[in-house]
Amino acid sequence: MLLKMSYVITIDGPAGAGKSSVSKRLAEKLGILYLDTGAIYRAAGLFLNNLGIKPEDDLKIAEAMKNFKLELKNNLVFLNNHDITHEIRTAEVDNLASVYSADKAVREALFQFQREQKNYGSLIAEGRDVGSVIFPDAEFKFFLTATPEARAKRRFLERQSKGVENNNYDEILKAIISRDEHDSKRELSPLKIPDGAILIDTSFMNEDEVIERLLSLVESVI
Ligand code: DC
Repeated sequence: MLLKMSYVITIDGPAGAGKSSVSKRLAEKLGILYLDTGAIYRAAGLFLNNLGIKPEDDLKIAEAMKNFKLELKNNLVFLNNHDITHEIRTAEVDNLASVYSADKAVREALFQFQREQKNYGSLIAEGRDVGSVIFPDAEFKFFLTATPEARAKRRFLERQSKGVENNNYDEILKAIISRDEHDSKRELSPLKIPDGAILIDTSFMNEDEVIERLLSLVESVI
């Protein structure tokens, strides 16, 4: 029944639950767009911090965000024509994104941008509030989660494979727990399971198993 129309899949969940790689691969398999909303908040955090604007300065943020021109092309992120794909993946930007994304002016400025991506066809949106706030009417909603320990282990191995220096499991675990706290306790769009979302605990699943599961749920409908 959905075959001829475009559709939206949302994947929400905490950091390290495997959302990014799963969303990216699922989008490839289905031949649809992948919208990494975390990358958008990371870019905004970097942008505002570089301008020296404090997270609580709503007026300045609203003004500055008028000059925030973001482009997502072939899984690359361009901010005002500069490629910031790698720059937004540092631990510092993890933190900047978490802090600035709690701000109303930031979320408002980015709301429209995210919604507009639907105009280009079917997509998989991945984030913290995509199923609850950005695309509440999405055809498919998933919430991926895993224990903090399982998520910290994945981050640790991922950083190790990339040869990141000062890689420390305990520090990653501490940062994950504190980021979870911050993301789920904030007033605006706190991290929560969206209405109608299917919850999948990936603690004891590998990536292929998660993808198979999601794919079978989606393909049983489209
Ligand atoms: O998924 P990520 O680690 O790249 O996200 C970075 C930060 O951005 C995270 O701490 C919370 C925020 N974020 C958000 O508030 N809303 C989203 N839809 C996506 C990310």
